Amino acid sequence: MPSMAANNFSRNTHQNQTKGDFVSRKQKIEQQRKNLPIAAVERRLVEEVRNNDTLIIVGETGSGKTTQLPQYLFKWGFCRDGGIIGITQPRRVAAITVAKRVAEECGIPLGQKVGYAIRFEDVTSGQTKIKYMTDGLLLREALLDPYLSKYSVIIVDEAHERTIHTDVLLGLLKNVQKARSKSINGVVNTDHNNSNNGHALEERIDNQNDGILKSCQVKKYNPLKLIIMSASLDARVFSEYFGGAKAVHVQGRQFPVDIFYTHKPETDCIDAALITIFQIHLEEGPGDVLVFLTGQEEIESVERLIHERLRQLPECSRKLLTFPIFSSLPSEKQMRVFMPSPAGHRKVILATNIAETSVTIPGIRYVVDPGLVKARTYDPKMGVDSLIIVTTSKAQALQRSGRAGRDGPGKCYRLYQESFFEKLTDSTLPEIKRCDLSNVVLQLKALGIDDVINFDFIEKPDRTAVVNSLWSLYLLGAVTEDNKLSDVGRQMARLPLDPVYSKALIVASQFGCLKEMLICVAMLSVESIFYAPREKLEESRNALKSFASPEGDHLTLLNVYRAADEFFQKSKMVHSEEKAEKNLRKWCKDNYINSRSLKHARDIHSQIVRNVEQMGLRVTSCEDDTLLLRRCLAASFFLKAAMKQPDGAYRVTLSGLIVQIHPSSVLFRAKPECIVFNELVHTNHSYVRNVSRIDYLWLVELAPHLYAVQD
Ligand code: CDP
Ligand code: MG
Repeated sequence: MPSMAANNFSRNTHQNQTKGDFVSRKQKIEQQRKNLPIAAVERRLVEEVRNNDTLIIVGETGSGKTTQLPQYLFKWGFCRDGGIIGITQPRRVAAITVAKRVAEECGIPLGQKVGYAIRFEDVTSGQTKIKYMTDGLLLREALLDPYLSKYSVIIVDEAHERTIHTDVLLGLLKNVQKARSKSINGVVNTDHNNSNNGHALEERIDNQNDGILKSCQVKKYNPLKLIIMSASLDARVFSEYFGGAKAVHVQGRQFPVDIFYTHKPETDCIDAALITIFQIHLEEGPGDVLVFLTGQEEIESVERLIHERLRQLPECSRKLLTFPIFSSLPSEKQMRVFMPSPAGHRKVILATNIAETSVTIPGIRYVVDPGLVKARTYDPKMGVDSLIIVTTSKAQALQRSGRAGRDGPGKCYRLYQESFFEKLTDSTLPEIKRCDLSNVVLQLKALGIDDVINFDFIEKPDRTAVVNSLWSLYLLGAVTEDNKLSDVGRQMARLPLDPVYSKALIVASQFGCLKEMLICVAMLSVESIFYAPREKLEESRNALKSFASPEGDHLTLLNVYRAADEFFQKSKMVHSEEKAEKNLRKWCKDNYINSRSLKHARDIHSQIVRNVEQMGLRVTSCEDDTLLLRRCLAASFFLKAAMKQPDGAYRVTLSGLIVQIHPSSVLFRAKPECIVFNELVHTNHSYVRNVSRIDYLWLVELAPHLYAVQD
């Protein structure tokens, strides 16, 4: 029968093709792996790890450290004691994309031998031997398992980034390593002449009545191998910190990169970037382009503008494809940037700082660097933590230009003048020196490290910053007057949230509105729920009106979540789960809601519901008693309250800072007398976002340690 034959024929071809593709892709990957600079020193590296309990590996970006070393260690038996290999990354995207790549290199599905875990998402199983994760996640694991007993090897990757979590982790791992080797020598809990930190770990174990003490007296832990990996050539600081630990260098392969500067300062860096991208596209030879931008918004607008300009070009010049990469990009889209561009096409990768060292994308010959980066800063006097755009350091500029020279000679276009480069700082200030420490201080305390100021940090945070965070933790009731962790503080540390949000959940369980607060906190934990494209501003504003509450943004967010959930549940009654999800995405689009953010909020919600249930908190609802919910917001967010001033601006009660309500807030025009808010952003003004209307007297009643009746 002809139709059968046709069917068979097409199926066979398909099978052959798949098999063919599979084999060639597998061979290609094998070839790529063999060609990586690190492959030439595999045996030597493995020997070094065997001979040194702590090893520092410095290697140029793209040499294969992150993807290959864990595989080598697995192959050479470092998991034979039943433990696993953990690799920490400062960024979620790096943890996810690298885990996917390594699973593919091993030819196995993700989540089996190779997996990843980030906050609110765990793709590992009992079989997982190579686990990529964020540095923050490993810190959380230490709360539940102070010896990190399931790990045989821990690799702290991208240590040069010096994120606050990396810095704390280094101190903690130093203790864990010490404590584990002592457990082998049978001296747990006896040696009290130890340093402050090793001591603290032992005391914590002493203080626990949950059996860890008993188990550790009989249990001997395997020694922990610690590997610190860094892209910066200066290994000294890590080596010194780890008592003169050995450092080895992996030689990279770097082709020369020509650097170009602008003749005059650029005022509009987006426009300058666009012009440069098109200049490269139209005038330069083959090779992909990597553009460093500051965040999702900037990336999305550059992407839109590229497509607009492409439409004006003749057909033959339109072979330019754009690929964004930033941390909140859905993971199925993240991997697209690694695909080779189709023949005759040029790829433009629009990336945040993530492509500087964490993620290596093959095929880049041109780098466009506006010299800016979004960074966290903290003003200890004002107690304000914010994300602002700052200039890069020289070290960052060099890393960025280096990305153009991995596959052949490259070019880097710095969108500033050469004299400007000379003025940049040599390297970036570690994050611990420039952010709010409350979360870290709370975690350290929960780990039994009470004397945070004297903790053996690789670089000490400013004393004022530590004192301020202790003060706000004290005001939140997380630490007692004598600086000890309170019961509430212990509960707060168990939640994977900022201390204020953890506190809000605990307060809400007492107020009887935990159900609502769980939603608020989940919605507050994601970026931009509302989607307002520039060309449809009016429509999106109208859509928002149907959810808006005159009482503030918190209740508005609650309305959105409830409406979405109601829609989803109804849809699920008549359709499959998959179809209902699809319908929900359509609903989001129609209502100008960012479906990705909403999905993220729903995931966070289910995780924190599990968390509070495990903690034994009562999840009750206040139904429609919005007054009660707002009183609960006041009782939770009293550290961030502000009063209206005669000129319509607001004065933050604790810091005296003058702020405005952000135009995106539903209270932007209403301007109530007294508000609580969650976020402070600085652009040309200081704005507060996520704002709710409250009564000042509630603050007096609910936070009497801070507020008194005004005359
Ligand atoms: O860690 P390091 O910077 O030394 O290199 P790596 O991240 O292990 O990358 C080694 C190679 O794997 C690079 O050539 C990357 O382009 C490639 N890679 C990839 O093709 N796809 C990924 N998802 C991750 C890495
Ligand atoms: Mg790496």
